[in-house]
Amino acid sequence: MLALKIIIGRTRDGRAADLVTPWVIDRAERHGSFEVDVLDLRDWPLPMFAETMHTVGNFADPTYSDPIVRTWNQRIKEGEAFLFVTPEYNHSVPGVLKNAIDNVFVSFAFRNKPAAFVGYSGGVAGGVRAIEHLAQIAVEAEVVPLRNTVLVSKVQTFFNENTPRDPLSDVSLGIVLDDLTWWGNALQQARAAGELRPGSARLRAAMAAQT
Ligand SMILES: Cc1cc2nc3c(=O)[nH]c(=O)nc-3n(C[C@H](O)[C@H](O)[C@H](O)COP(=O)(O)O)c2cc1C
Repeated sequence: MLALKIIIGRTRDGRAADLVTPWVIDRAERHGSFEVDVLDLRDWPLPMFAETMHTVGNFADPTYSDPIVRTWNQRIKEGEAFLFVTPEYNHSVPGVLKNAIDNVFVSFAFRNKPAAFVGYSGGVAGGVRAIEHLAQIAVEAEVVPLRNTVLVSKVQTFFNENTPRDPLSDVSLGIVLDDLTWWGNALQQARAAGELRPGSARLRAAMAAQT
């Protein structure tokens, strides 16, 4: 079983996320490949990112400037696959989600693990621009963004109880979960066989060797 972290990227009262997430969590749990852990950012009042190289503490086991940042990094590090649920805010992800990713700092907790995305919005776009943006953010966090996604448009009328009215979304979510399983297992094996040190460390070492 792969440790799947489902990250709920919105926190406000009355959020439409609550229409989407029961379906996503239920499908992930019934898939049979995952130990599902829901990381709802409502339960993670992370500070606006404020770390510096001096507040991290021991880089091998960072303490950070706030205990919740340490716990957050540890929970992300446990993950072997990630599924982000995000609305579209100004053609991107909500600031609270970007901040949660920023707070994964120097622990490399996302590194060399797959991530997939469920987007939703009030209009027809279904969060597609948020997902495109999130895939770019993911690259820099060194999490491996997957091609297949789930889009939930007109979220307020999308579900009949916990079931999407359009079967395409349910089929898409199944494909995403299959992809996460394949990539999760493939990258788990690859990490176990040995990882390159982070590029930033190799760059520093190579440049120091030149002087
Ligand atoms: C600040 C803000 C910006 C938004 N920007 C977009 C957008 O760029 N594209 C879009 O399709 N919907 C946009 N919406 C509509 C949201 O996708 C919709 O309200 C959704 O329900 C928000 O998710 P939440 O209720 O879980 O917070 C925006 C909503 C807000 C409040």
